[in-house]
Amino acid sequence: MALNHVTDSIFYVGVNDHEIDLFEGQYIVPNGMAYNSYVIMDDKIAVMDTVDINFAQEWLGNIAEVLGDRKPDYLVIQHMEPDHSASIAEFLKVYPDTVVVGNAKTFVMMQQFFGADIAPNREVVANKGTLELGTHTLTFVFAPMVHWPEVMVTYDAADKVLFSADGFGKFGALDADEDWACEARRYYIGIVGKYGAQVQALLKVAATLDIQKICPLHGPILTENLGYYIEKYDIWSSYGVESEGVMIAYASVYGNTKKAAEMLAEQLKAKGCPKVVLTDLARSDMAENIEDAFRYGKLVLASVTYNGGIFPFMQTFVHGLLERGYQKRTMGIIENGTWAPTAGRIIKGLFEKSKEITWLDTTVTIKSAVNAANEAQIAAMAEELMK
Ligand code: FEO
Repeated sequence: MALNHVTDSIFYVGVNDHEIDLFEGQYIVPNGMAYNSYVIMDDKIAVMDTVDINFAQEWLGNIAEVLGDRKPDYLVIQHMEPDHSASIAEFLKVYPDTVVVGNAKTFVMMQQFFGADIAPNREVVANKGTLELGTHTLTFVFAPMVHWPEVMVTYDAADKVLFSADGFGKFGALDADEDWACEARRYYIGIVGKYGAQVQALLKVAATLDIQKICPLHGPILTENLGYYIEKYDIWSSYGVESEGVMIAYASVYGNTKKAAEMLAEQLKAKGCPKVVLTDLARSDMAENIEDAFRYGKLVLASVTYNGGIFPFMQTFVHGLLERGYQKRTMGIIENGTWAPTAGRIIKGLFEKSKEITWLDTTVTIKSAVNAANEAQIAAMAEELMK
């Protein structure tokens, strides 16, 4: 099998997972998942991260092919989440003399997951600390909360490669033919979305480096047009509006709230709104819905009032937005309730602490079914959204 070169001396040894049902226990991944790992061949040899435990043997086989009759000197652990760390013990069974490289927090987590004896040979690195391999010198840059506290990324000045840990990753195995931004955005917003400030800090450091290739722990190696990917990350991590448009997310029981949402969508389209996303929160992927809410600049929430609160799927959706720091958006409400429509008041209360939320003047309040007054409210809301 041909070796999978990243550069003359850096090799890809990761694996594709098409067996997984839910990534991180919650995200559907119709095209599977890739767990990336790399080998840097030099006077000393470093392996960058491990893979999910179900693929340890395949990964070790990939490593053995690259190594030939040599042995690795270092196993660098950039992130302790088990999709990248679970195969440390399997690796050390084969290569027991390898020095495991991490930071102080890495080794605390390693002990918690795998016990105190897991890595007897270890090197604890500091932020901006280096590891000399020969031609390659690895510089470790701590990136706390991108996506866990111990995360660090690694820069190789020789080949101008950034090993970016979870950063710039995406859902989907590497043999899946799919758009990068779609699954990278769903991955980023879902998994790292809460930590925009920390990603911004990392982007500032990255801007000082000459980077020609980005090697993430998930998704393809990025080799061209890096500005495109960095710009996406800048927008996402600063909670900026990526695309002009309106998302209408509804939670409906008998179809009356849905009807109002559809009427609004039709009117926006008729007025030439650049993009209208209409979604039934009960019958769509919640991660995709949350991603869309962060993508577009305007969001209308349409919910029935339910047990004195809001409908469960709307509750889940709103919670998903709040926990990821939803902000800087224009929002509107369509509420429905047969005897006491309070969904709007409750939803607005939930966003009370969110930064820079502008509420539309118009709220659509339905009592059971859309009437003529509601139609006028929907028209007024469409008008306002197009301003
Ligand atoms: Fe891919 Fe945060 O683990």
